[in-house]
Amino acid sequence: MKNGLKHLKKFILQNKENAIILVDKHTYALCYPLLESDIPYILVPYGESYKNLNSCEFIWKKLIELSANRDTVLICLGGGVLCDMGSFAGMCFQRGMPVVLVPTTLLAMVDASIGGKNGVDFLGLKNYIGHFNQPKHIFVCPEFLDTLPYAEKVNGLVEMLKHGLIADPSHFESIKALILNKNSKIDFNLLEDSICIKENIVSQDFHDHGIRKRLNFGHTIGHAIEAYSLHINDENEALSHGLSVALGIVVESYLSTIVAGLSSEELENITYTLRDIIRPILDDVPPFEDLLPYLKKDKKNNNETINFSLISSIGVSRQDFEIQEQIICEGLIYLINIS
Ligand SMILES: NC(=O)c1ccc[n+]([C@@H]2O[C@H](COP(=O)([O-])OP(=O)(O)OC[C@H]3O[C@@H](n4cnc5c(N)ncnc54)[C@H](O)[C@@H]3O)[C@@H](O)[C@H]2O)c1
Repeated sequence: MKNGLKHLKKFILQNKENAIILVDKHTYALCYPLLESDIPYILVPYGESYKNLNSCEFIWKKLIELSANRDTVLICLGGGVLCDMGSFAGMCFQRGMPVVLVPTTLLAMVDASIGGKNGVDFLGLKNYIGHFNQPKHIFVCPEFLDTLPYAEKVNGLVEMLKHGLIADPSHFESIKALILNKNSKIDFNLLEDSICIKENIVSQDFHDHGIRKRLNFGHTIGHAIEAYSLHINDENEALSHGLSVALGIVVESYLSTIVAGLSSEELENITYTLRDIIRPILDDVPPFEDLLPYLKKDKKNNNETINFSLISSIGVSRQDFEIQEQIICEGLIYLINIS
């Protein structure tokens, strides 16, 4: 929906008497003022390490203090962490209050707020407790991107590039241009295209048993690298989700050339697009033996073999490829030799 901020302000005015906004320190300082409203808010700490049941308990206590009821609208103003956790907390409170998502990071606009998955981390396991449940509304307001640091934008750009790779060659070309020219502004139409690609896939497989797995392209390797990096570093020094997925996309594109028919020219095109993002972090890529335990934990695996979604050309994808360990190892060697 165009003019998201205008529609959001109108929505807040209409629901002023019975709405509460969930914010973190950054979105309270940088995004809340753009709403030009003084409706009550709940402030939670930012960061993945606070995406847990303790924070939900805090939110539920605050909702009670603010006399929220089942008709109170909970407006989640933040990135993927806050949107995932806020919608989970809201959908549990009194068996479900209406939740509105206002994503403020690029990744949350094109990915985390779309598709109805919410939840929190539990016992170190990512997104282990949660629901499939759609929010009442999602307002996408590009104005919030003005304050977002470039490193955070990269997380979203990588997911947008993935949307092009799995479903739309012209979207891939547009996002490639954005990645190669750091200073260009992200056009609302590109946000809309990315959101449509995800929504279209989700609408065919809401509960993630089939085609929705294609959205995991780049993520089997990406999640394993991210989890490994979080294990050996503290949260602030670990590789971000976007950088890990960028590495994963290159490895899984290599796998695609071996087993899914991706041409070597297309592999080169993808590698060239991501080269400046990944070159500075190639030393952080773990050896195959260290990555293997994390790959084996992937939720998509059927039995002993590791399961991937791959592309047969840019814009055409398929899920459920079982790949031998030797080929994955070759993919990592391809990655670390990028110059
Ligand atoms: N539900 C899903 O389908 C889905 C999909 C992908 C990712 N996710 C989840 O999304 C989370 C990652 O989300 P993220 O990348 O948005 O990170 P994030 O939510 O941690 O936000 C990143 C940082 O940016 C700050 N921030 C937010 N908006 C800002 C703005 N406009 N200006 C300046 N700073 C701002 C935040 O306070 C935070 O410090 C992960 O927990 C992941 O599991 C969920």
